[in-house]
Amino acid sequence: MQTQKTARYLSLLPVTIAFAITTVMMGQNTITPKSEIPGKVEALLAKMTLEEKIGQMNQYNGFYDVTGPAPKGGGAQRKYDNLSKGYVGSMLNVRGVEQVRAVQKIAVEKSRLGIPLIIGFDVIHGYKTISPIPLAEAASWDMEAIKRSAQVGAAEAAASGINWTFAPMVDISRDARWGRVMEGAGEDPFLGSDIARARVQGFQGDDLSDPLTVAACAKHWAAYGFAEAGRDYNTSDVGTGTLFNVVFPPFKAAKEAGVKTFMNSFNTLNGVPATGDKFLQREILKEKWGFDGFVVSDWGSILEMKAHGYAKDGKDATFKAVTAGSDMDMESDLYVTELAGLVKEGKVDEALIDDAARRILTVKYELGLFDDPYRYCDEAREKEVIYNPKYQEDVLDMARKSIVLLKNENNLLPLKKSGQKIALIGALAADKSSPLGGWRIASDDGTAISVKEGMEKYDGNTLTYAKGADVVIGPATFVRELTINEDDRSAFAKAIETAKNADVVVMVLGEHGYMSGEGRSRAQLDLPGVQQELLEEVYKVNKNIVLVLNNGRPLAIDWAAENVPAIVEGWQLGSQAGNAIAEVLYGDYNPSGKLPMSFPRSVGQLPIYYNHKSTGRPDEAADNMVFWSHYGDESNEPLYAFGYGLSYTSFAYSDLKVKPTKQGATVTVTLKNTGSVTGKEIAQLYIQDPYASVTRPVRELKGYELVTLKAGEKQKITFDLTGEELGFYDNQGVWQVEPGQYNIFVGGDSDATLMKSFEMK
Ligand code: BGC
Repeated sequence: MQTQKTARYLSLLPVTIAFAITTVMMGQNTITPKSEIPGKVEALLAKMTLEEKIGQMNQYNGFYDVTGPAPKGGGAQRKYDNLSKGYVGSMLNVRGVEQVRAVQKIAVEKSRLGIPLIIGFDVIHGYKTISPIPLAEAASWDMEAIKRSAQVGAAEAAASGINWTFAPMVDISRDARWGRVMEGAGEDPFLGSDIARARVQGFQGDDLSDPLTVAACAKHWAAYGFAEAGRDYNTSDVGTGTLFNVVFPPFKAAKEAGVKTFMNSFNTLNGVPATGDKFLQREILKEKWGFDGFVVSDWGSILEMKAHGYAKDGKDATFKAVTAGSDMDMESDLYVTELAGLVKEGKVDEALIDDAARRILTVKYELGLFDDPYRYCDEAREKEVIYNPKYQEDVLDMARKSIVLLKNENNLLPLKKSGQKIALIGALAADKSSPLGGWRIASDDGTAISVKEGMEKYDGNTLTYAKGADVVIGPATFVRELTINEDDRSAFAKAIETAKNADVVVMVLGEHGYMSGEGRSRAQLDLPGVQQELLEEVYKVNKNIVLVLNNGRPLAIDWAAENVPAIVEGWQLGSQAGNAIAEVLYGDYNPSGKLPMSFPRSVGQLPIYYNHKSTGRPDEAADNMVFWSHYGDESNEPLYAFGYGLSYTSFAYSDLKVKPTKQGATVTVTLKNTGSVTGKEIAQLYIQDPYASVTRPVRELKGYELVTLKAGEKQKITFDLTGEELGFYDNQGVWQVEPGQYNIFVGGDSDATLMKSFEMK
């Protein structure tokens, strides 16, 4: 049987190729039945030497132009030799059918047992056709669209020979300084768990052996998003309550959705590097949750335990990692060099090696690699799938849904479609690479639709473009520290002149796509370089500004929020960024996104998140303006709260009813579109447990519903709350559902005021 997705894919193809592929796939349908996999794995393990089993636990980065002659000498030679000996179980960053086939051929044809490689790659938000960055996608709260976006990335990557993605990243983060917030789903564990599930399902599909799906990887286990001060790779100290209630849930959701692999993380957690953490990998993941896939280390993280001050040397690090449950070594090259010795010395039980190899081999069987090691290597399929035009529709749909309207004073938006002089300002407005975002290593530069191109399609207005200022100077690459333009104002004058003569000014400002992501922490969260200055200069001559933000993280844009009449959060929206933004600006798409992460007013507020705990002094008392929990120079409130986002219409909530049930409560509310155009609202339900055996957050998201209503239309929405939503993990990590009062809030963001309480018996 073809899966639905494959059928969909075939429908896109010319008949002859579709026929050829169907024929190949009929052969592929003879893959090993699931029930036979354990027996086959055991039989294979019995044939393997200790070194071969350890080889399965070794992952190398692409090391050589493998389609060329074998390397001579040096590290590449050793890696090549190990591959031929069967001492490599996986490779990453080898891509394209030709390259993958070449490495696979060495593993399959040269090594004694011919065990195929599993080929990993970071398909984070697309492969060639690029989706919005994951944080942007999270703003859609639309699980179908997110799943579809993951399917697109999986299909293109799989067609390119890859069968394992290092995604989804499910790290919760409360600190926008951390560059990797762009890769996750924001600050909320409830929304984050749904997104984790959707992404795993999107990548893996229903059948892992489908050649258009890939194995997924929940990362980074764990608490990587709690890096102190938002500085990447930094220490995490997280208490048990926060671990179980905030950090773990999206990982658990990924596990329950059947994710095949986990990746551990670079950070220490409470003094132990995650890579060497037995509590995380063995006790929680493998024992408590019963995860039967495998855990890969992060890049070199086994060796990094030395720098952390946790391992004496490579050998000690190897011992600690394998004992803790890290099954595969990404690029430390330590398992192949140290592990056999440790087993022979009796320090590491061979059963641990068997367990790790068993897990890895099982996933390879499930991917169908033993039935056909070249199953993902089909040139015709690669040609047809990569950049298939249909995928542009999918990522456009995702991009539209990711946009958040932050401000729209006097209905400046949507723009009129004719008779207007529009000034378009900002280097990012014409940038065809930056919208591709930060994690798009396979993508082709210059392939995104820029905002300028998107807007030019609306030709009833006069559009004049002026750069105003560059954001970065020189080339922007994945591995290069960017040089921000701090002093070149030479293009200001032209931009100001252009703005002076315009009816409306659209300014596209923010971060370059490579300003967020791994290693891209920031200590300031303003508009980088001279962009704030440019904004203020333009404002002096024309106040009718629509600010379109391009950014990989929440920004502190208090001046703009105060002064600029319209603000659109346009993130980095991928291949179709400019089309999606133009459609929103012109009202052909009514924005519906809601922020998945709080926007601070200033960096000093960080970490800032809506689901914080109360203090003993939460409010300013009338007779005491000092001794309460606050800043003397800044509000406690975020600039834009979690869940916030406007529409071109308006919505009203009324008639909130909370009816206690045996399991919890049924909540109903009436939502009405009180504006003049059709719109989609993301109705949100928050709970508060006002007193409990352990203090609970002031609010927690526990339900949401995407509702599209015509002008004037209303709809009753129902939420069912059970112990699953009302309970929490205590400080021993034990699930509790406590009787007593619960407050229920329903509305369009985390500041919702409509409230009713009920008693849980
Ligand atoms: C990142 C991972 C990534 C890996 C492989 C590491 O530096 O932390 O998220 O999957 O590299 O590229």
